[in-house]
This record gives sequence, C-alpha cells and structure tokens, in this order.
Amino acid sequence: MTGQAPAIILGIETSCDETAAAIVMRDESGRGTIRSNVVRSQLDEHAAFGGVVPELAARAHVEWLDHIIAQAVDEAGIDLSDIDAVAATAGPGLIGGVLVGLTTGKALAAALGKRLIAVNHLEAHALTARLTDGIKFPYLMLLVSGGHSQFVLVRGVGDYQRWGGTIDDALGEAFDKVAKLLSLGHPGGPEVERIARDGDARRFKFPRPLLREARLDFSFSGLKTAVRLQAEAIAPLTRQDVADIAASFQAAVTEIVATRSRQALQRLQAEWPDMAPQLVVAGGVAANRSIAAALAAVAEDMGVRLVVPPIALCTDNGAMVAWAGAERLALGAGNGLDVAARPRWPLDMPDMKVSEDAA
Ligand code: KG4
Ligand code: ZN
Repeated sequence: MTGQAPAIILGIETSCDETAAAIVMRDESGRGTIRSNVVRSQLDEHAAFGGVVPELAARAHVEWLDHIIAQAVDEAGIDLSDIDAVAATAGPGLIGGVLVGLTTGKALAAALGKRLIAVNHLEAHALTARLTDGIKFPYLMLLVSGGHSQFVLVRGVGDYQRWGGTIDDALGEAFDKVAKLLSLGHPGGPEVERIARDGDARRFKFPRPLLREARLDFSFSGLKTAVRLQAEAIAPLTRQDVADIAASFQAAVTEIVATRSRQALQRLQAEWPDMAPQLVVAGGVAANRSIAAALAAVAEDMGVRLVVPPIALCTDNGAMVAWAGAERLALGAGNGLDVAARPRWPLDMPDMKVSEDAA
C-alpha cells in the first residue's frame, strides 16, 4: 500500500533457537530498510543434544532477549521511544520461547504506549521477499526450514492459501536426522552438504516418497529410514561411504523439491494465467546449493521469476518479523495485550486476515 506514514518497527523473534531483534523502517512509498538485525543463535546450548531442547531454548531467550533488543536499538541509531510499533512472533513455534518474546513485546508496547502486532512466524517468512526485493502479490512461496516444508500461495498480507506441506518430517529436519545418523554435527544441513561434495550421488538409489502422486505434499521419513538401513547394511562406514550416502540423499531430496516445485508452478500458471509467475524461497534449507541450483533451473525453464532473499533473511531473524509488522501496521492492524501465544498457527486460518481490533 502506498501513501502511508513512515514507520519504525521493532521486531522480536524467539520461536525456535534464535533470539533475534531488529529495527526496520518502512517509508511512505512502502519500501523497507533494515536499520539493524541482531541474531543470537543458540547452537552451542543445544549442540550436545543433537537438536533443539525447548526448555533450554526458552531459558536462553529469557537470558538474552533484553540485550539483543538493546543492541538492535543501539545499532539502528535510534531511541526506543522512536519506534511506532512492536512486532513479536506469537506463533507457531516452541511455546516457551514464543511466550518469552511475545510477553516482552507486550511489556514494551504497554510501557511505550505503542501498537503491538502479533506476527505469525510463517507470514514473516512469506513477506520477507517484499522487504528485500519489493516483490508484488501474488506469488508462490516454498518454505523449507527445520520446522516447515510447505507451498503457500501468497495473495496479500494475511491472505494465504496452503497448497501442500509435509506429512511427516520437515526438509531441514530430514537433513538434521540424516546428519545425526551419519555422526555429522548439528545443524545437519550444512554438514551433509559439505561432505556430499566428496561423494558419489549415484552410488545409492534412495526412494522419492510421494513423488508419483499429484498432490503437492512432501514426505521425508521413509527416505530417512532408507538412509538408515543403507548405513547399517554397510557399517562400519568409511568417510567415503558417508560422503556417498550424503550425496545420494541430497540428490534424492533435490529431485523431490525440484519436481514438486515444477508441479506447484504449473498450478500457479494454470490458476493465474495473466500473471507473470513468481516463486519465493524461504527457510534455512534455501542455503543448500544443490537445491538452490535445481530450483533456479526449474524457474528458468518455466519462465518464472525466482526470488531467494539473502540467506541471513531466509533463516530466522527479527527483520522479517518487524517487516511483517510494518506491512500489517500499514493496513491499520494491531493486537490487544490479551493476544495469545500459539504453538500451532497455520497460515490459512481465517484469523490471519488483517483486523483492526486495536486500531
Ligand atoms: O530457517 P532455519 O534457520 O530455522 C528454522 O527451522 O526455523 O532452518 C534451519 C534448518 C536446519 O534444519 C538446517 O539443517 C537446515 O535449515 N539447513 C540446511 C542448510 N543450511 C541450513 N539444509 C540443507 N543444506 C544447507 N546448506
Ligand atoms: Zn523459521
């Protein structure tokens, strides 16, 4: 929307294992500028457990969030009282962490007398490409992270249609589990990708679950099981075995993601024949070069504009939350201090529609 007053938004993100805060400005023409974006990852806290421990995550958010917010305000060169609204992730995610961020956001909004905006974490991922690339609606989003794997048609702020998701593990989770069973480090995605470079992707033919079906859903748990059985069958594993398994696994998921994306884009072209088709990729798995290259090839082949925000904005961060808040604020949205934290919050719920209940 154009013609809005400029706004300065504080964004707070605590739904998983990143404690993050950012200051984003939105000008009257609708363009966003990131003034600061501070992320503290909790990798060290969780490393020994091979995954995120919710209770530890919540404690670390409590310990660090105030500092991270202060740093974000400081790096932006503003005063806390300069902000126009506080946007905080209200779900979906690990509920202890979400409560820490949302409660802090409420306290700040109340103390400063500013608007509170409760942000859906998935919406924040979905709208990031508008901050980074000014992309216009509608577009298709492929979100592939540690917690989510889904196609979402983004028609407008608060106006989403979920076209498919995972029926078991998220893609990042599959990378993490495969890394764990190959005794690689956590998070597993980068580790699998690194060692796969030295491997032979054709040595093992892993299954491509669901791929023959027309639905736009993913399934990765059968693939993970196939990887485990293969690893057990040839144990003890040499470094080369690990590299070959990693490469073969990565080839399987790359083919799955590329094929599904092609199908989703065909549906987009069929439903919106007059629109120039656009695909936005979000989530940490967007960093994977094999998957990114396959998506680029599909987009090029189909004449689709592909937008992949810088990886620091694909993974969890405060700027995306601030920006989602800015987009909602521009439409007059706001939330009361009674808004609840939610462990589950699908994007296509009616309550995603922009409401002006606190306006
Ligand atoms: O978006 P993100 O930072 O956090 C959330 O899950 O919200 O995504 C993290 C996930 C992890 O599962 C991690 O293993 C995966 O993204 N990931 C990758 C790569 N880098 C991160 N997966 C495959 N290849 C990578 N290079
Ligand atoms: Zn995320």
